[in-house]
Amino acid sequence: MGGYVSGEQPQGDGWVKLNTNENPYPPSPQVVDAIKKAAGGRLNVYPDALATEFRNVAAELFGVDPDWILPANGSDENLTIIIRSFCDPNDTIAYPYPSYVLYESLAAIQSCPVRRIKLNDSFQWNAADSKAISSSARIVFAPNPNSPTGNCWTADQLLQLLPDAGVLVVDEAYGDFANSPHRGELLKDDRFDRRVIVTRTLSKSYSLAGIRFGFSVADPEITAGMHKVRDSYNCDAIAAAAATAALQDQDWMLRNREKIILTRKRLLAELPHFGFTVSPSEANFVWTVHESGRHRHIQEQLKRNRILVRFMHFPDAGVDNETLDGLRITVGTDLEIEKLFDALERVVATVS
Ligand SMILES: Cc1ncc(COP(=O)(O)O)c(C=O)c1O
Repeated sequence: MGGYVSGEQPQGDGWVKLNTNENPYPPSPQVVDAIKKAAGGRLNVYPDALATEFRNVAAELFGVDPDWILPANGSDENLTIIIRSFCDPNDTIAYPYPSYVLYESLAAIQSCPVRRIKLNDSFQWNAADSKAISSSARIVFAPNPNSPTGNCWTADQLLQLLPDAGVLVVDEAYGDFANSPHRGELLKDDRFDRRVIVTRTLSKSYSLAGIRFGFSVADPEITAGMHKVRDSYNCDAIAAAAATAALQDQDWMLRNREKIILTRKRLLAELPHFGFTVSPSEANFVWTVHESGRHRHIQEQLKRNRILVRFMHFPDAGVDNETLDGLRITVGTDLEIEKLFDALERVVATVS
């Protein structure tokens, strides 16, 4: 199999990192305090295997009982746990395409065939075609907002993806950036038959990509099954303390969210001046296609200016199976975005 290739993580200072959708702002000071406190605690013993305090806080935020919450070492681990819980080899996994590339690698690890639900130019699927694919799948993954396209789908649309005898995983890694952020409404929507799993990460809106913490929210029966599959101590004491403090400081997260949304507006307004077509975004990144088609070149030239953006290549995309290439650009600080514009001024002159 071809393994998943994550975005570049350069070590050292001086980079403008707009390639892996991290939050440009630091985590809450309360998180730093919680880490210090946990580090001064009893690190010689195993952590609370259930991350009880975290589950209590997350449950309150989502308006559910704690037995709906399954903490994990990053939401990527939640995805792995879900596949290992629900799929035997040869069970089908489906997802909108283009979307998060990792689903395909995780499916390959479990020897599961994948089926792509092709998105049209407006990043929507055809209901009849999607039904034919999703109904027989064991798992359908749907990022909401989607990555890399940045758009959200409604509950009615997501319902079209619910398998006949499987689960729908709504990957809300970027959920807090959506225009109207939801907190597990789908979980209480009877039409989904309690067969929906929402996954969340602390990496994006809570500025904790370096800590590795994510969680899923699902019916207790589903969650109990997934507990059997995860490693007993999949979350360490320091990460759990940090994640708990992060969720407790909603004001901090919301303030950063506001800043990111304002900068996103600027980015969407300015990029067309450099020859990019942009798509509306409800995430902390924007999907762009350049009129020259020379995305790889633009990405490489920006890198020479110490600015990283993500070049993405999706073969067999769209209803006509054409190739979709583009750049996914994370919303940084205003200063970082200004550096991007400065560099684009020069770089774009070399492609037109
Ligand atoms: C759609 C989507 N889901 C999940 C993740 C993984 O997040 P985490 O850092 O919690 O593993 C990402 C990370 O980029 C993502 O884009």
